[in-house]
Amino acid sequence: MEKISQSVVKKDHAAKMEGRSIYVADYNTAKDGRKILTGKILHSKTARAKVLSVSVPDLPEGYFYVDARDIPGDNNVNIVLDDMPVFCRDTVEYIGEAIGMVVGPDAKEVDRILSGINVELEELEPVLDLRKSTEAFFNYEYGHGDLQKAFAEADKVFDEEFETGYQEQAYLETQGMMAEPEDLDRMFVHGSMQCCYYVHGAVKRVLGTDNIHILQDVTGGGFGGKEAFPSILATEVAVAARKANAPVRCVFDRREDMEYTSKRHPSICRYKAAVKDGKVTALDIDVIFNAGAYSTLSAVVLQRGLIAAPGIYNVPNIHVTGRALKTNTSPCGAYRGFGAPQTFFAIELLMNHIAQDLGVEPLAFKEAHLVKQGDPTSTCGEYHFPVPVQDMINEIDAVCDYRKKRKEYAKAQEGRFRRGIGMSMYFHGAGFTGSGERDLIKAVTRLHKYPDGKVEILASNGEIGQGLRTTFCKIVSHELNIPFDDVFFEHPDTARVPDSGPTVASRSLMTVGELLRRASVQLKEIWKDGEEQEVEERYKEPDFLIPFHLDKFEGDAYPTYAWGVNAVELEVDTLTGVAKVLGAYGNFDVGTPMDYNIVMGQMEGGLLQGIGYSSIEKMDYDNKGRIRNNSYSDYLIPTTKDVPNLKCLLHVEKYPYGPYGAKGAGELPLVGVPGAYVEAMEQALGKGHRLNHAPFTAEDTLFEIMKEVGK
Ligand code: MTE
Ligand code: MOS
Repeated sequence: MEKISQSVVKKDHAAKMEGRSIYVADYNTAKDGRKILTGKILHSKTARAKVLSVSVPDLPEGYFYVDARDIPGDNNVNIVLDDMPVFCRDTVEYIGEAIGMVVGPDAKEVDRILSGINVELEELEPVLDLRKSTEAFFNYEYGHGDLQKAFAEADKVFDEEFETGYQEQAYLETQGMMAEPEDLDRMFVHGSMQCCYYVHGAVKRVLGTDNIHILQDVTGGGFGGKEAFPSILATEVAVAARKANAPVRCVFDRREDMEYTSKRHPSICRYKAAVKDGKVTALDIDVIFNAGAYSTLSAVVLQRGLIAAPGIYNVPNIHVTGRALKTNTSPCGAYRGFGAPQTFFAIELLMNHIAQDLGVEPLAFKEAHLVKQGDPTSTCGEYHFPVPVQDMINEIDAVCDYRKKRKEYAKAQEGRFRRGIGMSMYFHGAGFTGSGERDLIKAVTRLHKYPDGKVEILASNGEIGQGLRTTFCKIVSHELNIPFDDVFFEHPDTARVPDSGPTVASRSLMTVGELLRRASVQLKEIWKDGEEQEVEERYKEPDFLIPFHLDKFEGDAYPTYAWGVNAVELEVDTLTGVAKVLGAYGNFDVGTPMDYNIVMGQMEGGLLQGIGYSSIEKMDYDNKGRIRNNSYSDYLIPTTKDVPNLKCLLHVEKYPYGPYGAKGAGELPLVGVPGAYVEAMEQALGKGHRLNHAPFTAEDTLFEIMKEVGK
């Protein structure tokens, strides 16, 4: 194992294990000792309505009601488009939307006031059915080759639809944010977040001043869920703190968090495939994502989903369209994988179904279509670096006896318990999609050396459980060849750190990590003992990239790719429908691991989240648009007990432009799991079962079995 991969004790290990970490909910007072007021949101109880009036009962001394009229700047949360208000405008668009906020010293009194507020509404017909939505926030199309010709010449045409559901990030710490007015009219906002500069941009716009600073507090997990939502909550508490001229904190309870904050987009993907001489010659793909009531991050989530839509297969003619559609439900957002799990699920199942129809083994069929180094990507970029998928398949086969079991379980199975095994393969486009890194983010990092030789990392990326405080410090200490303990990286405060971009898209470790490595090289060259020194490094797009043009969806959408292969083996109880996972296997190429234990933790956790997404994590809203699964007894997530036999392998294909060969790691392990899980389920249920949605729950299994009985 390379030196950099050898595991160390994480920088935040002791504080977290000993319960000393201070999360935003834990502060007893504001920074200057003032009492913190509790803020609670007046959420819309209706999915769509005109707001006619809001009557607030008489407020006791020290209590405030805050709404859009109190916003000094723009009533827009800066995300991608300008549609998301801080507090509602004339209408409410989903159950949970913030109409206003009540703040005051006593939480019970705040509750009492909230329940006394009377909101007069004129209800409007909500759009809840994704298939019936006609309003597209975003609409993209790309393709190449001659589709018409390929379909005209096809031996056979396949046409299938695939569906995926919500997934809730289920971080341990719910959303929480606090705003503290400081001297000279400065506003300080801190809390649980992934992207302090996103929050900075949002608060600045809403308060109409850049006399602000944003700090990430210790964050109990994000998984994408703290990419955009914290900007919303931060603006709300900032407006409240300005009005009350006092520190205000709002921490969501679990029910609020599950019902009203962003989740993974439900999707419907329609795939048409032309097959000639045993090969897929064309794919015509239409993807729709349920964006919810406001556009938030749907543009970028959809882009990633569409780019991944043809999977990792070389298909000469493709046409892809996609829309993020509005419904009157909570806005969906980022979740580990960011749009790609939906389309990878569809293409993986489609390939299985075509193979079975042609009478060949799906794995062999997929292998025959695998992309190779030098091949064009879906967007006419290039796979510039080795594609190790075939080797990874063989390695995983060696661990779980995939090919042998697949044959064995294909025999007709009788009796109550039936087994199946499935495999999926996929990539994670490492880093920001398209030209975002070059045109929007323009990351800057600094290293500050103190006279005592200690070095501080100045970057805006955050520790969210993925180990960044540790891996960043490892990179710098390794390059400078100084002790790990001499390098430190505090939680970012926009007053102190430059904008090195958000903690998203698995970009921090790869992209910002490389900037830090290069900054270390610089610092090493000018290093003078006893002096205070600072160096800066800025992002530069690698020369080999074929520039990406979003208008045409053309070029390298990503500089490189992390690769994943999963196998899932399960046993279905045909009496209860319950499936037991006998083994979940992942083989992952994330380049050089920056810390073996951290990377393994990422892989195992992500794989388990993927199993949840495939099987038991079901969430839906009722006919009023209200999320029904709002607690951990109604929304189950898997634990290690559900998947005791979970094994991950690392296949290392170094990326020359990442730190020591590292590629984006964090999201990969979740991305492709449903394809393997549902394929295993299909095999267990036996011939004739063609499954097309995830999660595939025990109830779904029983429905499938009933079909047999009905025959
Ligand atoms: N791991 C833990 N423990 N907690 C998290 O919130 N977020 C995931 C992933 N792994 C997450 C995690 C998501 S959504 C992303 S984008 C990446 O970590 C971020 O990786 P990076 O720090 O390299 O950008
Ligand atoms: Mo991760 S879904 O990009 O925050």
